[in-house]
Amino acid sequence: MYPALLLTHNALRWLILVVGVLAIVKAGQGLTGRRPYAAARRLGVIFMALLHVQLLTGLVLFVISPLVRTAMTDMQATMADGAVRFFIAEHPTLMVIAVAVMTIGSIVAKNAPDDVRRHRKLLVFTTVTLLLLLAGIPWQRALVPGLGG
Ligand code: HEM
Repeated sequence: MYPALLLTHNALRWLILVVGVLAIVKAGQGLTGRRPYAAARRLGVIFMALLHVQLLTGLVLFVISPLVRTAMTDMQATMADGAVRFFIAEHPTLMVIAVAVMTIGSIVAKNAPDDVRRHRKLLVFTTVTLLLLLAGIPWQRALVPGLGG
């Protein structure tokens, strides 16, 4: 189960990044006031759903990963080793914050008084989420699932 989950977690990252960029483009197009919010909202919701699936796979990985299990046996050594600490501390923390920002943003945008402001809020929150994701992704690992890294 672990290799399949790690593969899924790896590949899903690309889908999330592509949908995130599309959501930003769609939200940006809505700033002119000539587009209804529905299309941008749909992409925002898909982005959020994918993030929640990734959060779930990440949480399961955190429980079953041999890397995490080994790291937990000596937390002092783990915290002193930046490469290992990244998967125990920085990566999960940044990603949970990113998912929370997007979840809050989706609600805030939906509740804005008009479509231009809905688009603007979606644009800002999705951009911040994407930046947090880019900062938290372990780019040192395999870029293509199962290959190298
Ligand atoms: C939500 C956005 C997230 C993205 C885009 C993301 C992305 C990634 C990527 C690309 C990898 C490298 C996979 C590989 O080496 O093949 C990875 C590894 C990992 N992620 Fe995430 N992740 C996310 C959230 C999380 C969360 C919330 C947790 C934990 C609570 C988590 C836990 C882990 C762990 C433990 C590993 C390393 C597993 C191992 O090597 O054994 N991830 N993540």
